[in-house]
Amino acid sequence: MAKTILTGDRPTGRLHLGHYVGSLKRRVDLQNSGEYKNIYIMIADAQALTDNFDNPEKVRQNIMEVALDYLSVGINPDLSTIFIQSMITELTELTFYYMNLVTLARLQLNPTVKNEIQMRDFKSSIPVGFLCYPISQAADITAFKADVIPVGEDQLPMIEQTREIVRKFNHIYDEVLVEPKAMLPDNQVCMRLPGIDGKAKMSKSLGNCIYLSDSAEDVQKKIMSMYTDPTHLKVTDPGHIEGNTVFTYLDAFCKPEHFERYWNDYASLNEVKEHYQRGGLGDVKVKRFLNSIVNEELEPIRTRRKEYEKDLNAVYDILVQGTDKAKEVAAATLAEVKQAMKLNYFEDKALILK
Ligand code: TRP
Repeated sequence: MAKTILTGDRPTGRLHLGHYVGSLKRRVDLQNSGEYKNIYIMIADAQALTDNFDNPEKVRQNIMEVALDYLSVGINPDLSTIFIQSMITELTELTFYYMNLVTLARLQLNPTVKNEIQMRDFKSSIPVGFLCYPISQAADITAFKADVIPVGEDQLPMIEQTREIVRKFNHIYDEVLVEPKAMLPDNQVCMRLPGIDGKAKMSKSLGNCIYLSDSAEDVQKKIMSMYTDPTHLKVTDPGHIEGNTVFTYLDAFCKPEHFERYWNDYASLNEVKEHYQRGGLGDVKVKRFLNSIVNEELEPIRTRRKEYEKDLNAVYDILVQGTDKAKEVAAATLAEVKQAMKLNYFEDKALILK
């Protein structure tokens, strides 16, 4: 069976390195592998509204930002369909039907949602729309019969919930929907890249992000200010690797060939780590090395972004065309869903005429 990918991001800000190592890079590799017939990349604006309903302008302002981020990391509109969630009303309709298949208790168990409720301080006034976004995510995935979902670890509960909905739907109505599988990053450290302040997650609200669209100077400043080991006061002091953000980033980005190019005093990351732990290796040197590596990764992204920025009308057209194409696919699935749910009265008079 043809493999289909669907994934997406909420347009609440520019995309950052956490998105990049957690999912974006993987999407580009999968796209270029040629193994997937259909790849859908969704700008999840409706989902973004579930916790930004009072700030629609923010969501609107980030549509083009996220589209540019996608294109600049190498999502190729000839190979992948980029589309805007809210423009596909079929997704909202599917969500409504799937709501019958999920209990309130089950929604409240979703660890990602639970965590977000706490972070947003909703307490007992949780908007129903927010609580239900995992159901809408199930609609996004199943509308395209996607079986492979490249996402970060925090999305696993959403995929699990989708699988439950699919099983229940297929059992009660008809075998229409496809059970998806999450595809996580291979490299453990890429699951959740910490912010430059060492906090558990890179997040816009914490102000600790390196954005894909940051200039080389900004990236350098951010890397130089990165959280390291607070006990490593003098160069000669022994240093710690665990919880040291610079080393976490090196674990995510460093490849053997980087040593020849940027730091031929060492042959491997392990050698650097050993020296740092022994004492005698200063933070600045390690940060400079990391900066070279991160810039090498970001430079082609910046260049591609500049190209696309010269012709924003073309980017707009990519979104319109991608959305048109996605709508056709979602509409076909919705028709099957409605037929399975016996909601296709006007296909045949005999269905309701007695
Ligand atoms: N929840 C995802 C995020 O916050 C965005 C998203 C919406 C998504 N629908 C999706 C991801 C479907 C994968 C599949 O980043």
